[in-house]
Formats: sequence, structure tokens, C-alpha cells
Amino acid sequence: MIRRTFTAWRSCQAYCLGIALVTVTGPAFADDLAAREAASRDVAGQLITRLGETLKKEMSTKGPESAINICRVKAPEIAGEISRANGWRVTRVSTRVRNPMLGMPDATERLVLSDFETRAGKGEKYSDMHYSEVVEEGGVHYYRFMKPIPTQPVCLSCHGDSEQIPEVVKNALDREYPLDQARGYRAGDLRGAVSIKQPMAIPLRSMAQGQ
Ligand code: HEC
Repeated sequence: MIRRTFTAWRSCQAYCLGIALVTVTGPAFADDLAAREAASRDVAGQLITRLGETLKKEMSTKGPESAINICRVKAPEIAGEISRANGWRVTRVSTRVRNPMLGMPDATERLVLSDFETRAGKGEKYSDMHYSEVVEEGGVHYYRFMKPIPTQPVCLSCHGDSEQIPEVVKNALDREYPLDQARGYRAGDLRGAVSIKQPMAIPLRSMAQGQ
């Protein structure tokens, strides 16, 4: 009985906290969103930078075949660590995925990716763009954040045109990703985005602890 009451109280606490955060429209709410945005920017920026740097290093020391594991294992691993530490969902999404299990965008992500491309077409730089919004999905409020991942020259030996991808890499990709759509990119194209989803019921303080 006590246990049941406690559980009910816990879920009410999470629920009420969520509602309070969303319905309070004062400076506290604005501060909360600003802090969520700052933390998300930081995490997304770090993920993109770390991935780029680690890839460059691995490519120059061990070659592109070995570097496959950076994009395949390391990137989802870092995203997973951040997700577990913060209670967020951190993923890389794209409209043309190599791994449909991890990279498929949902409806919001698809719209935002397309918006990033439209804005780039009008001259805006991917490095200056982000998306940030509180949404309600299935009765739950989430803070959502996305940052574009532009294609760099170093990405082309695995995401570029056929003649840019070394034979050994091509064979490995053909073998492991029969549904691969993530080729044919040029430097400067939008490769995808880091997408972060935070339940508003998880307060900011616990997010900061995982940083
Ligand atoms: C050595 C090969 C290789 C290089 C170089 C490479 N990638 Fe990848 N990339 C992969 C593989 C393999 C996957 C599939 C990962 C998985 O299984 O989840 C992938 C997946 C991705 C995804 C997730 C979406 C999807 O298509 O499944 C993004 C985003 C991405 N890469 C961006 C980049 C960027 C940006 C660069 C350059 C900075 C880059 N990659 C360089 C091999 C590579």
C-alpha cells in the first residue's frame, strides 16, 4: 500500500512538474528553455566536432576502412552516453540514411531537415542554424533541438560519389548496408542533423549533472 502510494506520488510528481514547466510562462520558463538550448547546442556541437576530428585522425593513421567504425560505432556510442547521462534522446538523423534503424527521421525531424536545406539555398550557413521548440506528443511535452551536420571533404570517402569511395570501403558498405542511401553527397551538402529530444518532466538540474 505504502509502496503503491509512493509510486503514484512519484508519477504525479513527474507529471505535475512537467505541466508546471510548460504552463508557467514567466521568466523561469524562459530561463529553463534558454538553459536547455545552451546545453543542447553544446552537446550537438561537441558531437559534430568530435566525430569530424576522430574521423580525420583515424583516416590519416589507419585508413578509411578502419574509419568506418568511427561513424558506425563511435558516433552512436557517444550519442548513447549523452542520452543515458541526461535522460535525453540524442540521435543523428538524415533524409537519406545508411542505417535506417538509427537514422530515420520522424515527421518533425523531416520537416526541420528540409527547412535547413531551404535556408541554405537562400544563403544561410549550416553552422549558424539550429531548431528549438517545445512540442506536445501523445500528451507529453518535449523540448526538441536540432543542429545541421554538413558534409565535409573527409566524409566523401564513405558518403561521396562512387569514384570517391575506395574499393575496400565500397565492399564493406555493400556487405553491411544493403539499403544504403547515404552516398552521392558533395562537400557542403546537408548530411543530416543531430536531434535531441528532452522530456520537459526531467528537470534541468539532472541534465546538467551528465555534462
Ligand atoms: C570511413 C567511412 C565513413 C566516413 C569517412 C564517414 N562516415 Fe558517416 N557513416 C558511415 C557508416 C558506416 C554509417 C552507418 C552508421 C550506423 O550503422 O549507424 C554512417 C552514418 C552516418 C550518419 C547517420 C545517418 C545515416 O546515414 O545512417 C551521419 C549523420 C553521418 N554518417 C555523417 C558523417 C559525416 C558528417 C562525416 C564526415 C565528417 C562522415 N559521416 C564520414 C561511414 C562513414
